Amino acid sequence: MKKIPVIMDVDTGIDDAVAILVAMAAPQLDIKGITVVAGNQTLEKTLHNTLSVVEYFGRSDIPVAAGSSRPLVKELQADPATHGESGLGTARLPQPTVKPHSMDAVSFLRETLEKSEEKITLVPVGPLTNIALLISCYPHIKEKIDRIVMMGGGAFEGNMNAVCEFNLFTDPEAAQIVFDSGIEIVMCGLDITMKSYTTMEDILRIKATGTKAGDFCAEAFALYYDRYVNNSRLPGCAVHDAVAVTYLLHPEWIKTERANVKVDIDGTETYGQTVCDFRKGRDKSMDNALVCLDIDREKFIGLLEETCKYYK
Ligand code: RIB
Ligand code: CA
Repeated sequence: MKKIPVIMDVDTGIDDAVAILVAMAAPQLDIKGITVVAGNQTLEKTLHNTLSVVEYFGRSDIPVAAGSSRPLVKELQADPATHGESGLGTARLPQPTVKPHSMDAVSFLRETLEKSEEKITLVPVGPLTNIALLISCYPHIKEKIDRIVMMGGGAFEGNMNAVCEFNLFTDPEAAQIVFDSGIEIVMCGLDITMKSYTTMEDILRIKATGTKAGDFCAEAFALYYDRYVNNSRLPGCAVHDAVAVTYLLHPEWIKTERANVKVDIDGTETYGQTVCDFRKGRDKSMDNALVCLDIDREKFIGLLEETCKYYK
């Protein structure tokens, strides 16, 4: 099977960690590297968490490069209420011994893309700061990016307010640069990720795998589950970022629709909103994204369970 070359960009975070676990266990993917950005927590913590996850789960071979410590314009507003002070909720992993790559994230992305004989899929699941810096500093590099399969935005809902999702809320200007770049985007926004929720029954099923990954997820989900059940309509927690990786592995599980997606950076109430034009009469030549709208939740939960079993 021909593997899909990918570079993930993360703000590890609980669901970022699960997305990394799913990606590292997937035979379909060739992970060329993981770049890190500030978002859920400070860059220091998101980098530490990413190094901890790749090392603890046996993939210290994957280069991890540190990126931006702040959004392009706004001040960083981390989310300890959702991801905890550490960024991994109540889960505790051994201190990592592996060091970050010597290059910063943007330089690592540029060099890896330039040297690659094939186009690479970028999988950003945090604020789009690193990706925006990459394509702004090195516009020629867009030719080496196959697609951007991202977690963020929402056609019909927000989580930071009525219309804006955290990753885009954190760095709206970066998101606008990425969505206006001309690179094909697969947008795994809240429309799909809020349908991929993990119930307590699912968490117990994951725990019952009796694996180190199952134990980690169950620990990490403890705070995360309460946060969602107490503050959203969901009967469980939304493992948002793992859905973006799932799209690459099983697009057949996911309902999508093409659209022209613009990011608002001028509105007061709509700052950071993904404005998705699905109108039948729109100028379809302006379409820039495949918007994910629904998922087979049971199959998604099965993938999480199978992922845990991969890590004995
Ligand atoms: O809105 C959910 C997104 O924001 C996820 O990527 C989560 O990790 C946070 O970054
Ligand atoms: Ca994230």
